[in-house]
Amino acid sequence: MAHNDLEAFLSERRHFAPSDDFVAQANAQADIYDVAGRDPRSWWAQQARRLTWDVEPTQDLVWTPPFATWFEDGRLNASVNCVDRHVAAGHGDRVAFHWVGEPEGDTLSITYRDLLVRVSQAAHALSELGVRAGDRVAIYMPMIPEAVTAMLACARLGAAHSVIFGGFASDAIADRVQDAECTFVITADGGYRRGSASGLKVHVDAALERCPGVRGVLVVRRTGQEVSWTEGRDHWWHEVVDRQPHEHTPESFPAEQPLFLMYTSGTTARPKGILHTTAGYLTHAATTHFYVFDVKPETDVCWTSADIGWITGHSYIVYGPLANGVTQVIYEGTPDAGGKDRWWRIVEEYKVTILYTAPTAIRTFMKWGAEFPAAHDLSSLRLLGSVGEPINPEAWMWYREFIGGNRCPIVDTWWQTETGGIMVTPLPGVTTTKPGAAMRPFPGISVDVVDNDGASVGNGEGGYLTLTQPWPGMTRGIWGDPERFAETYWSRFPGVYFAGDGAKRDEDGDLWLLGRVDDVMNISGHRLSTTEVEHALVGHDGVAEAAVVGASDDTTGQAIVAFVTLTVAAAESGASHAEIIEDLRAHVATVISPIAKPRQIVITPDLPKTRSGKIMRRLLRDVAEHRALGDVTTLTDPSIVSVIDGLMGQHAADDE
Ligand code: WT7
Repeated sequence: MAHNDLEAFLSERRHFAPSDDFVAQANAQADIYDVAGRDPRSWWAQQARRLTWDVEPTQDLVWTPPFATWFEDGRLNASVNCVDRHVAAGHGDRVAFHWVGEPEGDTLSITYRDLLVRVSQAAHALSELGVRAGDRVAIYMPMIPEAVTAMLACARLGAAHSVIFGGFASDAIADRVQDAECTFVITADGGYRRGSASGLKVHVDAALERCPGVRGVLVVRRTGQEVSWTEGRDHWWHEVVDRQPHEHTPESFPAEQPLFLMYTSGTTARPKGILHTTAGYLTHAATTHFYVFDVKPETDVCWTSADIGWITGHSYIVYGPLANGVTQVIYEGTPDAGGKDRWWRIVEEYKVTILYTAPTAIRTFMKWGAEFPAAHDLSSLRLLGSVGEPINPEAWMWYREFIGGNRCPIVDTWWQTETGGIMVTPLPGVTTTKPGAAMRPFPGISVDVVDNDGASVGNGEGGYLTLTQPWPGMTRGIWGDPERFAETYWSRFPGVYFAGDGAKRDEDGDLWLLGRVDDVMNISGHRLSTTEVEHALVGHDGVAEAAVVGASDDTTGQAIVAFVTLTVAAAESGASHAEIIEDLRAHVATVISPIAKPRQIVITPDLPKTRSGKIMRRLLRDVAEHRALGDVTTLTDPSIVSVIDGLMGQHAADDE
């Protein structure tokens, strides 16, 4: 959000206090911040009792900066915590998931008892196929029940999963599989997206040509499309899993057993494998899910609209909600598959009570118009959440009015892949919210906003968001690269974790997130690095140099704008710029993913560089956002910026 908008909204001082009804039944009580703040470590240890342990921990935090462990001498099994114990407690008939496929009518409701059978069978199958505790298993799947089953089956065996978002292309899969040294892959023949079946196994096959360490591939038949088959390596899920026994005796694992890796983009071209371990992560996910969403497992129906290929899906579809034993909706497809009211039909049909989604989705619904939600009975909703990017006050107000019926509290939750769970958020029933503000650190979490020198800023001032104390869900590091972990997060402000986000403390001391301050872009809530996209572009033999920036976009938050210079060969090839641009966009989609396709590519004779040869991205961002240009006097050729500015308008016109 632009700074001016923020000032305007702050000055309006629009506040929403919790309703008396909500306060009366809320999980979080007004004293929660005081209680947790007095002794955060004990408070978290208290929260860890939500879990079922085989051996109760006697330790809480062991802190050897920047490495932390939590509850280290305890033992448990994550899948038992998510499934078995709910069945054992008599809730086997409770629905774990109402799964809604993209094709109309393709639905399935799975109880906790069903889920236990599925996870047990999958665990047996993986064991039979050679998966062992300590292994890494890549999961590349659409949003189908087997994806959740696969994750839990890995967890049950003590093998770490590495879920790769189904939108990634084969190079991205290969990089991730190699980096984690995965020995096994779980995938599907394909998935449904925007009304048609697309291939998934085909990308795995291509990726595995570069991954000799993978011994086996388990394939779910989702679409029935033709797939190529490598005998001895490939196995059908329905052939191997379905014949397994329904009961599986789980082992217990140490609290710090790796639970999963989640690759995420940093400021370099190489994605980082963010490691999460078992007990601290599960405690954080379950505790935040319980308080932030105020869940009542007997009656709530939660819907987190994320894909399980991202951290939101891990923490608030799989581990948090299942640890808390709630009922959820999982929807496979796009928001407009089967009509622009598809989501609202789902809310009405399944009586969804808690909806958690991203500002991009909200802004898309705004654009489509309020008539689509208005055509459905959304009165079951009682709480709304937002995540992934700053939510602009206009979108917040629209969400409140047209989805929440001016009745549901909104929780704007700030966190990251690295934090494992929610870090800054209002608490329903406690916090008086402000449209666009994430408000306060979650109980037991310590946050500061600091200036360039690391000194706390006062109320009414902006700076960098830092996390000053270790927390249970904190990443245990970057897979295979402890130094990079220390360097990336702990060196900018020594001794504290630097998230990469700008933030402001308003006059009341409440927090407003202002977006990334580094070279990380946020496109529709998807995190991508400028260098990663530049790397893909210069990997094309027509490109000499590339500079990429994230430019603000009304719907997607940010959009990718790329500036490239061509090689002599490409410039003289006779291809038109329009053809080259289309080719480059397709190239980026193939190398990274369609989500990384630039909104606009500008072919320019040169890039703005300082005398030391550094590309001035700041100026390109000004150009891309149609702002007055800043200081250009340090450039070797100051005139190039206005040349690019002119080209930018021309290409934008071409696009229309
Ligand atoms: C980055 C983390 C957290 C799960 C989804 C994204 C941005 C996230 C908010 C929010 C403002 C937000 C930050 C953060 N972000 N939530 N509520 N308000 N910004 O996880 O891919 O690891 O991205 O998303 O910039 O650093 P991720």
